[in-house]
Amino acid sequence: MVKKKTCVFISGKGTNLKNLILQSREKIFPIKISLVISDNKNAYGVIYAKKYQIPYIFINTKLVNYENTILFNLRKYKISFICLAGYMKIVSNKLIKNYQRKIINIHPSLLPKFKGLNTFSRMLKNKEKKGGCTVHYVNEKLDSGNTIIQKKFFINDKDDEKILKYKTQKLEYRAFPEAIIKIFRNS
Ligand code: GAR
Repeated sequence: MVKKKTCVFISGKGTNLKNLILQSREKIFPIKISLVISDNKNAYGVIYAKKYQIPYIFINTKLVNYENTILFNLRKYKISFICLAGYMKIVSNKLIKNYQRKIINIHPSLLPKFKGLNTFSRMLKNKEKKGGCTVHYVNEKLDSGNTIIQKKFFINDKDDEKILKYKTQKLEYRAFPEAIIKIFRNS
């Protein structure tokens, strides 16, 4: 099997990145992580790129032409698939057009509920009974592309934001690899 050369975009801790790197080392997993892009110089997750000897690039999104720098590097590393794993910047239309249905994102809620930021505090405020995560294709509208996989858990009365995050991420580490397998199952 020829693995798809994949770039993972991160902004923070990178626990999903770490999980995807470990999964991608399995022979039958359909992707190879060939590049990591971070928009945050201090993203902790970069240590996983270093540890597993994956090229990584910091992109300064304050520069006007930063999207061209991203595209240049995606081409340089022959990237054909992109995973947004805790990337907190909105992806430009230009990038989306160049990678139609080739960009997926993981979001810490049961979309279409709670798009955007601060999902856990909003869920608690709303007295939600269920939480979860969604892996979806990225399109021009925020957190609105087609769902690939969703996983749910029940929220207990005593759950706080920390517990919701813990429960969500536990599911994310299963959902992201499953979504990737699902996408490439028939290719
Ligand atoms: C993940 O829980 C992901 O769902 C969320 O950021 C976290 C990153 O964790 N993404 C978003 O909120 C995107 N809007 P990680 O850096 O440890 O993988």
